[in-house]
Amino acid sequence: MAEIFQTVEQLIKDIETAQPDSIEAIEQFRIKYVGSKNIIKPLSKEIRNIPNEQRKDFGQLLNKAKKAAESKFQHLKDSLESGVEEAEGEELDLSAPPMPIPLGSRHPVSITMNRIIDIFSRIGFIVAEEREIEDDWHNFTAMNTPEDHPARDMQDTYYLKDSTSMLLRTHTSSVQARVMTTQKPPIRIIAPGRVYRNETISARSHCQFHQVEGLYIDKDVSFADLKQTLLYFAQEMYGAETKIRLRPSYFPFTEPSAEMDVSCFICDAKGCNVCKYTGWVEILGCGMVDPQVLENCGIDSKEYTGFAFGMGIERQAMMLYDINDIRLLFENDVRFLKQFQSAL
Ligand code: DAH
Repeated sequence: MAEIFQTVEQLIKDIETAQPDSIEAIEQFRIKYVGSKNIIKPLSKEIRNIPNEQRKDFGQLLNKAKKAAESKFQHLKDSLESGVEEAEGEELDLSAPPMPIPLGSRHPVSITMNRIIDIFSRIGFIVAEEREIEDDWHNFTAMNTPEDHPARDMQDTYYLKDSTSMLLRTHTSSVQARVMTTQKPPIRIIAPGRVYRNETISARSHCQFHQVEGLYIDKDVSFADLKQTLLYFAQEMYGAETKIRLRPSYFPFTEPSAEMDVSCFICDAKGCNVCKYTGWVEILGCGMVDPQVLENCGIDSKEYTGFAFGMGIERQAMMLYDINDIRLLFENDVRFLKQFQSAL
């Protein structure tokens, strides 16, 4: 007698574990367990052969099998219908969260450049953007760089094909000439942009890079103004404790000229391989605009004075983000680029 109980129990198990995975399989399930000729029905006839005291239990077990089959079939039917609806896009769930859209990230050179622009714009410097393809005059002559200056050498400068006067600018100082010949003082600009030099590409140098130029011309602009402006910049960029050091230098377009170092922010000036154990890192070139440059650009050097500075971006970005090869900045490898996040 126990046998028939076992048969029904096995049946219930089969129903519960069945996983019909196609419309045909679900139909087979329906025919087998809930259709008019289902296999549960005939079992009720067995009740005749069951002793009275067990009949009630058997009836309940059969009922359980019937219910299990019906609810399983209902469930299969429901999930089939909702699947079809989804596939046809009939029912849109407007409350569902959107698919996450992967966000891009800014290039470390852009982040660094934007920080510099932001710092100077807070003290009234206006961004001036100019052409990358320049003429000889704006890039060199106006900037007091004589004909025989080594910077003009074909080895450093990319000239346009068949041209002796059109070139790719070698520095953003060309923007100084563009601005001074078209605007009247007071002038207070910063000029971010790309520059080109015919250099062998290595981990430390590239044939293209970025600079930010600064120019301030007004009456009575002094070296003290330059120094204070650069101190402000250095402390905003590298922290309030940052010190600056100006070393006498030479540039054709400034007199006097200087190079500015900042105290190494990586080792707190204690000495590391970034500052080559000197405690100082060179950041920019600067000076008082040479009166001859003002005159070249049509500004009266007896009435006006000014200061200028120019800095490379890549080296600063490399220090800020601990990047040890400049080529990474130009290869556009997303695995590298996606590491940089910034609000700027
Ligand atoms: N143009 C220089 C360079 O590319 C950098 C520079 C130095 C710019 C001194 C300046 C300056 O405006 O005053 O190396």
